[in-house]
Amino acid sequence: MNNKLTSYLESQMQALKLKGLIAHYQEIAEKASQNNLSYFEYLSLLLEEELKRKNDGTIKTKINKARFPFIKTLEEFDFSFQPSLREKEIIALSSLDFIEKKENLIFLGPPGVGKTHLSVALGIKACMAKYRVVFTTAQKLLEELMLSLKDGSLTDKLLNYSRLNLMVIDEVGYMPISKEQANLLFRLISMRYEKGSIIVTSNYNFNEWGEVFSDQVVAAAIIDRLVHHARIFYINGTSYRLKGKLKPAAAN
Ligand SMILES: Nc1ncnc2c1ncn2[C@@H]1O[C@H](COP(=O)(O)OP(=O)(O)O)[C@@H](O)[C@H]1O
Ligand SMILES: [Mg+2]
Repeated sequence: MNNKLTSYLESQMQALKLKGLIAHYQEIAEKASQNNLSYFEYLSLLLEEELKRKNDGTIKTKINKARFPFIKTLEEFDFSFQPSLREKEIIALSSLDFIEKKENLIFLGPPGVGKTHLSVALGIKACMAKYRVVFTTAQKLLEELMLSLKDGSLTDKLLNYSRLNLMVIDEVGYMPISKEQANLLFRLISMRYEKGSIIVTSNYNFNEWGEVFSDQVVAAAIIDRLVHHARIFYINGTSYRLKGKLKPAAAN
């Protein structure tokens, strides 16, 4: 193809923001002529390419917006290291029917067993399915809610959070939670109740949440709403971070 024509086509594609086409139109044209494709078939290949790029862009934006602390996938999770988890049950979660049903997932267990990894991996799957997702830690969330309470934007903030399809609240219990913060968390969880999914991770079992929240009554109310439609996973293995680092006790 002559240079004048390609640079003309490319400037047209640029003007129309058809970035997928700019990258691939030449190879698609070659493929079409080699395979004697009809004009319609050729056009459909061009459109597919552009749609694919737009789709990839949307997913990338969703993943950026979700603010994951790292990118990890379910495929990277070594189930043989964590026999307390049933692989099939976790893999089945990637169908995301729990989001459709507005159910919650709760991962409980000591540090390093993969609670954040699994939450991120499922969050990424949700982004790929075009759901609105946000990842946060309990501490960050509560700091944000306290600030909103002070500057009068709490209702708006809670409304924004209630519009998400999936909200991951990581590390509930790592930092002590005041009564006021516990009340804010209760308001958030009540707003999302039966409206959208939450994934919660914690290193404390439910019977210890009263202490974590400095208030047995609010803790019970939070647990009640969280657990009503939830799948709970107790992970009681050893830390992956310590894998291979702890020597077995010397036999003597
Ligand atoms: N079973 C596993 N297979 C692969 N990587 C794992 C596994 N469990 C944990 N990890 C990795 O170990 C690190 C700690 O896991 P993380 O999910 O942060 O633990 P937790 O949130 O339970 O403290 C992360 O880098 C994570 O990807
Ligand atoms: Mg974690």
